[in-house]
Amino acid sequence: VVSKVSFTVNGERRELDLDLRTTLLDALREHLKLSGTKKGCDHGQCGACTVIVEGRRMNSCLSLAVMHEGDEITTIEGLGTPDKLHPMQDAFVKHDGYQCGYCTPGQIVSAVAVLAEVKAGIPSHVTADLSVAPEASNAELRERMSGNICRCGAYSNIAEAMTEVAG
Ligand code: FES
Repeated sequence: VVSKVSFTVNGERRELDLDLRTTLLDALREHLKLSGTKKGCDHGQCGACTVIVEGRRMNSCLSLAVMHEGDEITTIEGLGTPDKLHPMQDAFVKHDGYQCGYCTPGQIVSAVAVLAEVKAGIPSHVTADLSVAPEASNAELRERMSGNICRCGAYSNIAEAMTEVAG
């Protein structure tokens, strides 16, 4: 069964005719050719497919595209461009927050959303205050990022990049 769905991706209104079973990830990658969002496991375990929907991050492989009628979606392509990197992209480069790079778009999208969550006072399982306890805040960042798996093990550098952007 095919259905029409329209949502805003990186500030641009998009309308698609999609099989009801199409995931948001496949809609972005296959239909809109936004291949920055990666498919790792395709079942919610790796975070490579992370995008921001209505201000909250989500695994786009776990959600059907037709459920996002009217939603505002941000992908890695919406954060920065090769000429004008997002501060988080800059910080990942500076701190070597990647090796093979496959998980990196998901890591960066998630990292940007995590700092927004912290700023908005959304609690994590680790009750550290970013501004007063650097070690604990590192633990907090790592806990908040625990849904994004990096097979190369760049976790410490990712946390460093996030700490720099958090200021
Ligand atoms: Fe979606 Fe792995 S591809 S969580």
